[in-house]
Amino acid sequence: MATSSCLSAITRRLEGKVALITGGASGIGRCTAKLFASHGAKVVIADIQDKLGHTTIETYGKLDIMFNNAGAGSPNKARIVDNEKVDFESVRGSIISTSSITSTLGGMASHAYCCSKHAVLGLTRNLAIELGQFGIRVNCLSPYGIVTPLSKDIAGVNNDQQLEMAMNMNANLKGVTLRTDDVAEAALFLASDEAKYISGHNLVIDGGVSINNATFKIFQYPQDS
Ligand SMILES: NC(=O)c1ccc[n+]([C@@H]2O[C@H](COP(=O)([O-])OP(=O)(O)OC[C@H]3O[C@@H](n4cnc5c(N)ncnc54)[C@H](O)[C@@H]3O)[C@@H](O)[C@H]2O)c1
Repeated sequence: MATSSCLSAITRRLEGKVALITGGASGIGRCTAKLFASHGAKVVIADIQDKLGHTTIETYGKLDIMFNNAGAGSPNKARIVDNEKVDFESVRGSIISTSSITSTLGGMASHAYCCSKHAVLGLTRNLAIELGQFGIRVNCLSPYGIVTPLSKDIAGVNNDQQLEMAMNMNANLKGVTLRTDDVAEAALFLASDEAKYISGHNLVIDGGVSINNATFKIFQYPQDS
């Protein structure tokens, strides 16, 4: 029946694909690794936290999805993943990097972190141009704040609830909290064939924070002022 084949396509969106996820031992990467695997992908995790990530070296003979997600919060460790030309030559399909809303906004993190996320966006756009001729799509994800070890490092806060409250207070979209699953679902979309014509895109997952000019208050209600 059309309905059931449609449903199975939706539930196994990465069947037979091989995905490499950096920073897959924690936070967004860990959540994405689980989601990709549940959609039929063979997932290889690369992380410096060996005990958590069980860094894996497997040979699958191909690579369809590369999720450059690893990140570090402390300024002296902040860096983007350094890819060699050979990495791109062996990739077919979809390259996704985790940037941040600091890819388009200033004043939200350290200079080093902000620079690195702008660089991720620049690299995404340049690579999308270079690799389009090979049928390889290149996109990035730009989430707002989510409570993870990295964001706790950046904020200098140990208490999860306290940080989440602060993030919700500064959010544009109220009544909902951004979670790692939301970023994983966006990564799944970009990795899947549903996004087959999307390349060079910065998928902002911020509930509208980055389009809000906080210096204007035209939507403030009288009782709030
Ligand atoms: N949490 C947020 O608020 C937020 C917002 C926007 C963007 N991001 C980005 O999301 C990505 C994932 O961060 P997270 O919040 O899930 O943090 P996290 O701390 O939960 O996970 C990051 C993982 O990356 C690993 N890692 C760090 N350096 C590495 C390296 N050189 N090689 C391999 N693995 C490495 C860490 O060991 C860790 O497991 C990062 O790129 C981060 O900048 C996070």
